[in-house]
Amino acid sequence: MPEKKTYYITTPIYYPSDKLHIGHSYTTVAADCEARYRRLKGYDVMFLTGTDEHGQKIQKKAEAKGVTPQAYVDEIVAGIKDLWALMDITNDKFIRTTDDYHVKAVQKIFKKLYDQGDIYKSEYEGHYCTPCESFWTETQLVDGKCPDCGGNVEITKEESYFFRLSKYQDRLIEFIEGNPDFISPSARKNEMLNNFIKKGLEDLCVSRTSFDWGVPVTFDDKHVVYVWVDALSNYITAMGYGSDDDSDYKKYWPADMHLVGKEIVRFHTIIWPALLMALDLPLPKQVYGHGWLLLNGDKMSKSKGNVVDPVILVDRYTSDAIRYFLLREVPFGSDGSFTPESLIKRINADLANDLGNLVSRTAAMEIKYFGGAMPEAKDRLNTEADDEVIGMLSQLSKTVEGYLDQLQFPLALTEIWKCVSRLNKYIDETAPWILSKNEEDKPRLAAVMYTLLEGIRIVSILLEPFMPKTPAKIWEQIGLEAGSDITVWDSAATWGLYPAGAVAKKGDPIFPRLDLEKELAALEEIKQAAEAKKEEKKEAPAEAKATDAKAELPEGVITIDDFAKVKLVVAEVMTAERVEGSEKLIKMKLNVGNAEKQVVSGIAKFYTPEEMVGKKVVFVANLAPATLCGVLSEGMILAATKGKKLTLLTIEGDLPAGSKIS
Ligand code: ME8
Ligand code: MG
Repeated sequence: MPEKKTYYITTPIYYPSDKLHIGHSYTTVAADCEARYRRLKGYDVMFLTGTDEHGQKIQKKAEAKGVTPQAYVDEIVAGIKDLWALMDITNDKFIRTTDDYHVKAVQKIFKKLYDQGDIYKSEYEGHYCTPCESFWTETQLVDGKCPDCGGNVEITKEESYFFRLSKYQDRLIEFIEGNPDFISPSARKNEMLNNFIKKGLEDLCVSRTSFDWGVPVTFDDKHVVYVWVDALSNYITAMGYGSDDDSDYKKYWPADMHLVGKEIVRFHTIIWPALLMALDLPLPKQVYGHGWLLLNGDKMSKSKGNVVDPVILVDRYTSDAIRYFLLREVPFGSDGSFTPESLIKRINADLANDLGNLVSRTAAMEIKYFGGAMPEAKDRLNTEADDEVIGMLSQLSKTVEGYLDQLQFPLALTEIWKCVSRLNKYIDETAPWILSKNEEDKPRLAAVMYTLLEGIRIVSILLEPFMPKTPAKIWEQIGLEAGSDITVWDSAATWGLYPAGAVAKKGDPIFPRLDLEKELAALEEIKQAAEAKKEEKKEAPAEAKATDAKAELPEGVITIDDFAKVKLVVAEVMTAERVEGSEKLIKMKLNVGNAEKQVVSGIAKFYTPEEMVGKKVVFVANLAPATLCGVLSEGMILAATKGKKLTLLTIEGDLPAGSKIS
C-alpha cells in the first residue's frame, strides 16, 4: 500500500493567561476544521497545539499570587485543555514549553547555534525600568515611559546573547519572493518584505538575565533563552527534533501549515525561518495570518476587559454553534466582529431556521407521506424541475473542498448554505402537501422527497469538519448511520446514494430557536456579574489617589498625563472614497506606520477624495472606534474649523507615517 500523504498543521502555542477568550478559540477552531477535513480526505494528519509558558510576565503573575510559576501555569494549562475538549478540538499533540523534552531540545538548539557562531555574546543596550526589572526597546515605550508601570526608564546595558538575524536577510528575501505562497494572504507577505525585512534586520537579542523563568542556557546559566526562540522551536521539538526519537520529526516536518494571528506573522516569517536556516532545516510550507475577532471594533484581549468567555458561550449554545459562528462570521484573513447579537442572529437564521427547519420539515413529511420508508427508484418520478437542484448539490463537495484546501472556511460555508436555501425553496416550489392529496402524484412526491433527503445527506456530510456533532443528529432524523459507506466524506461527491427503504425518524430540532431579547439580557447579566467580580479585586487605594489629585484641578483643566492619553500620530492617506448615501463623509485608508486604519471623516464638502490621497494628516490613534453611516471609523483626523471653513491639519516635510506627535 502506498504511504498516506501527511499533513502537519499547527496553532500558535498559547500564553497561559487567566482565561482564554473567544478570540483565542478562533485560531484553534480554524486549525481543527482544517485538520478534520484533511483526515476525512485521507491524510495522515498531525495537528499540534500547546502552551507557551515561560517569561517574565508569568513569573511576575505567579509571584503576585504567591505560587511557583510552575504551579501557576499548571492550573491554567489544565483549563486550556478542558476548553479544547469542550470545543471538540482534535489536536494530536499538546506541547508545553515546560515539558522536559522541549527544554532539553531548546538547549541543544541554542548550543548548536552558539557553537557554529550564529549566536554570539555581546551587550544589549536598552531602556530599563528598575521597579519592573524590564528591558524595553525605544518603540515599546509609551511616551518615553515604561509601558507596564508608566514610570521612568533609564538606558542600561545588559550582557546578552545575540542571534545573527542580519546574516539571513538576503536569504529570507530570496526565499519569500521565490515561494509566493509561503506568507498568506499575500498582503501580509508584502507587509513583511517592505515594512520589515527590506528595511534591514538587526541581530536579535536571544537571552535574558533579569529573570529566570525560562530555559536556562546550558553553558552560561545566568541566562535564559528568549521566549520567542523557546516558543517557535516547539513546532519541531514537539515532533521529537533534538530528542532520541525523532521519527515524527522525520515523518511530518516541514509543517504544511502554521496558522497564526496576524500580529505574530512577523515572528513566524522572519525569526522562525532564519532560525531554521541557521539550523539547516527545511522551512514550513506556509504561514497563514488570520485576522482578529473584534468586539465593538477592538481586538478582543484580556487586558481590555471585553472578554467573552468561550466556556459560557459553549455551555449555553453548544460547541457546534460557536464553531459555526467563528468560521462563518470572520472573512478568513480579515477581521470580523463578535457581538452577542450577531451570534444569536446567526444561530437563529442559519442554524435553527435554514438548516434545522429543512431537516425537521423533510423528516416530518417523509414520515407522514411514506410512513418513513423511501420508495424504490422505479416508483419515483423525477422531472426537469429537479435538474437544477440536483446539479447544485452534485457540485457542492467539489466546491467546498476547493475552499477548504485554501482555508476559506466562510466561503465553504456560504456555498453549503446556498444549497440549504435552495432545498428550502424547492419545498415551496414543489409543495409536497399538495402532491400528497392525489394518489397519482405519489411517484412525483416520492421523487421530491428523495431530492430533499439526498440533498440533506450531502450537506450533512460536508458539515462535519465545521460542526462535528451536527451530522450524526441529522443522520438520525433522515435514517442514516454514522460510519456507513454513504455518510463518509467522499460519498458526498456522488448524487443518488440515499437508499430506498431508509426510514426517517422524528427528532428534536437540531438547533432550537433562541429568543433574542432574552438571550441578550442573560448575556449582559453574565457579563456584569463578571465585571463586578473583577471590580472587587482592584486595589482601591491606588485608585483613590489618582482621583484625589484630579479633584484639585479647576474645571476643564487637564493634567499633562490626561493630555498624554491622546495618541497623535502622522498618518498618510492611502485611498479615499465618498461614503455612499452621505454628502459629508469620506472614507479613507490610512497608513499609520505599522498598521492600516480606516477612518470616516466629514470633509467631503471641503476636499475631494482625489486630493486626499497622499496627504499626511494628524490621526488620533487611540480613539474608540465608531460607525458612521454604517461604515467603521477607527479613529479621527484633525481639522481646524471656523464658521463654514474647514482646513485639515497636515504635516509638512518628509516625516514618515507613524511618527509620534506630542
Ligand atoms: O501570541 N481574534 O500567544 P497568544 C483572533 N504565545 N485571534 C486571536 C485573538 C482575537 N481577538 N486574540 C488572540 C502568542 N488570538 C504566543 C505565540 S507561537 C510560537 C507563540 C490568537 O496566547 C492570536 O492571534 O497571545 C494567536 O494566533 C493565538 O490566539 C495565541 O495568542
Ligand atoms: Mg497575543
